[in-house]
Amino acid sequence: MMDIASLFRLDGRVALVTGGSRGIGRMIAEGFVASGAKVYVSSRRADACEATAAALGPNAIPLPHDVSTVEGCRTLAADLAAREPRLDILVNNAGAAWGEPFENFPEKGWDKVMDLNVKSPFFLTQALHGLLKAAGTPERPAKVINITSIDGQRLNAWETYSYHASKSALIYLTKRLAARLARDQIHVTSIAPGAFASDMNKAARDHGDSVAKAIPAKRIGVAEDMAGAAIFLASRAGDYLVGETVTVDGGLVNASLGASIDG
Ligand SMILES: NC(=O)c1ccc[n+]([C@@H]2O[C@H](COP(=O)([O-])OP(=O)(O)OC[C@H]3O[C@@H](n4cnc5c(N)ncnc54)[C@H](OP(=O)(O)O)[C@@H]3O)[C@@H](O)[C@H]2O)c1
Repeated sequence: MMDIASLFRLDGRVALVTGGSRGIGRMIAEGFVASGAKVYVSSRRADACEATAAALGPNAIPLPHDVSTVEGCRTLAADLAAREPRLDILVNNAGAAWGEPFENFPEKGWDKVMDLNVKSPFFLTQALHGLLKAAGTPERPAKVINITSIDGQRLNAWETYSYHASKSALIYLTKRLAARLARDQIHVTSIAPGAFASDMNKAARDHGDSVAKAIPAKRIGVAEDMAGAAIFLASRAGDYLVGETVTVDGGLVNASLGASIDG
């Protein structure tokens, strides 16, 4: 019989979640720990990483670093390499958004978002290539999961120009990295979340009921929705997904009816 009990387990796996201290990253870190993984929780603020790791238990370890620069990505990778000989699962989740009217949209709001959302996933994956390669085998590929967004798949009304562009870029970068890294038994995929309550998505956090009205499933996403998708991709169950973006949004992208134009 097929061993369904182990299909979604992550026992003995080592994972790193950037932006794991809160929001979507924390949801994923919690799911990984509950599935048996050892999870390094990373973000800029050491106190936030420590508090989250303490809440998630002894298999969660704080590893604070700023990944907005290439140097920061390399420092995080070196810190991890000093503790672990291999890395089974990398979740590139840390991200930022910037909204401002088109006329005044500043260079700072462009660079901050493109650096953290596009450049960092690439250079952190590059810096961790050796550890990921050490973990990947044909029977058990290592995993890189990029957290993209439905804003990279369709427009919304916010004037978040660099954010839209960055998430679309990361969905495509997921495919290009997947093509290169498959030969090293490292499978790269992405999750495109819809509305999840967080510091970044204050609308979902503070006005969830009104946000839910526009979502076909009639609710915003919760921790189990995000953890479920991430555990699927990270575990044996998701081994045959390569370069894929899994949309987890209650149907906004794939089950919304457009406006009628013929009356
Ligand atoms: N929430 C949603 O509805 C939604 C929808 C689609 C996509 N997403 C994506 O999901 C990811 C997480 O978003 P979220 O909503 O959970 O946002 P959030 O609550 O603002 O969390 C962002 C996380 O990233 C960390 N971070 C920010 N800058 C960093 C840096 N330079 N280096 C390292 N860590 C950094 C933050 O901790 P520190 O401040 O301590 O660094 C925090 O842990 C992002 O990529 C976002 O674009 C979110």
